[in-house]
Amino acid sequence: MISRMIVLGAGGDLAARLLLPSLAGLRARGRLATDLHLVGVDRADLDDESFRAHVRTAVATHGDATAQTGVDALTATCRYVRGDAGDAEALRAALALGEGPAVVYLALPPPVFAPAIRAAAEAGLPEGSRMVVEKPFGTDLASARELNALLATVLPEDAVHRVDHFLGKQTVQNLLGLRFANRLFEPIWNREHIERIDVCWDERLALEGRAGYYDHAGALRDMIQNHLLQVVTFVAMEPPPTLHERDLRDRKVDLLRSIRTPDAASSVNDTVRARYTAGSAAGGPVPDYAAEEGVDASRGTETFASVTLWVDSWRWEGVPFTLRSGKALGDLRQQVAVRFRPVPHLAFGQEEHPPPNQLLLGLAPDRLQLSVSVNGPGEPFTLEEVTLDAELAPQDVSAYGRVILDVLAGDPTLSIRGDEAEECWRIVGPILDAWAAGSPPLQEYPAGSSGPPGA
Ligand code: BG6
Repeated sequence: MISRMIVLGAGGDLAARLLLPSLAGLRARGRLATDLHLVGVDRADLDDESFRAHVRTAVATHGDATAQTGVDALTATCRYVRGDAGDAEALRAALALGEGPAVVYLALPPPVFAPAIRAAAEAGLPEGSRMVVEKPFGTDLASARELNALLATVLPEDAVHRVDHFLGKQTVQNLLGLRFANRLFEPIWNREHIERIDVCWDERLALEGRAGYYDHAGALRDMIQNHLLQVVTFVAMEPPPTLHERDLRDRKVDLLRSIRTPDAASSVNDTVRARYTAGSAAGGPVPDYAAEEGVDASRGTETFASVTLWVDSWRWEGVPFTLRSGKALGDLRQQVAVRFRPVPHLAFGQEEHPPPNQLLLGLAPDRLQLSVSVNGPGEPFTLEEVTLDAELAPQDVSAYGRVILDVLAGDPTLSIRGDEAEECWRIVGPILDAWAAGSPPLQEYPAGSSGPPGA
């Protein structure tokens, strides 16, 4: 039984925004074992009491109403150890606050992963412990390989949870149900019937004070290398025999392996990168990204990325998969859009084909929309598009909360396996290289707009 969760970077932004509110939410719902303790480790000069106050503030600022009701129970279990994430002594002290296996959660920016894992190797983790590593897992293929090799010196692979909270999102999981529990879609889920697939995560939020992390990451590393590629695996993988971790993760890796490595031309021609300029989004003024505090404009970090990928397989040959994500955009568009091909012959006498059938899977809010052509109400053979629309019930536990529950249960099904993380970097690597060399040029878009022209 896991008796403590040791959070390295407990005073940081990621813990405050996501981890601590999610833990409070799980406490409120009675989903955490009563004897599970939270041990915060950070460089900040805090003690148990002031760390508890920090947890309260984080939950009050970022948690929902349910999380607020769990904060007392959560803080009652909190302890604090002052120390660096790369300091084995601090980890030893944190481990000494309990017995048996622990979860060590690296709520840290990518450059600190390696020192933290080395510290864990030096301190030694009790048998049965688990480690959680946030995304992005490294900064490129070489660093991901290095991290994987380091992790292998500390824990067995199935005790390593490279988490991606998009896999805890209900609609992403629903892709499996939709595809593999219905007769309707899977037989036409291929290049014969599908023209293109777009995975889109447009946000209204801008930088939100995260320059320290984001200005080194950018939209491609922050969203596409992990979250959106993970969504693509669920959209496009072959049917797994079961949903157990081995079967599911093997199918995901197969799919990733069949995504073509972009060549030099496609890294430029099939991609768009841009950053926002001043404007207004999410109901308020947004400064120029380059003028945001902590941003080094000369780095040329993109806040918008769009890439088109190709899957070399019988099922998907020739079908473009476009993955796009941007910050400070005018409209929230967070969805998977599956566009079907036109019918082979239209017997309605009109020259123009009706709009193609489209299946939209809304990732936030969770919804399912299928647009089809039917006979309109007027002339018997005129066509009209109607949309079958289902709003899905909101998920009981947040996406992040689900991921945490899986870690505590020791279930790696929704964690990213080491080889999977490397495949994702293999795919985006050439694009990162092309962008670092300046092609295509970094475009601009005003905050609150629909993104750069042509995207
Ligand atoms: C995070 C990214 O992983 O996901 C953020 O770092 C992004 O930049 C966020 O805004 C989006 O996910 P959600 O579920 O928090 O809206």
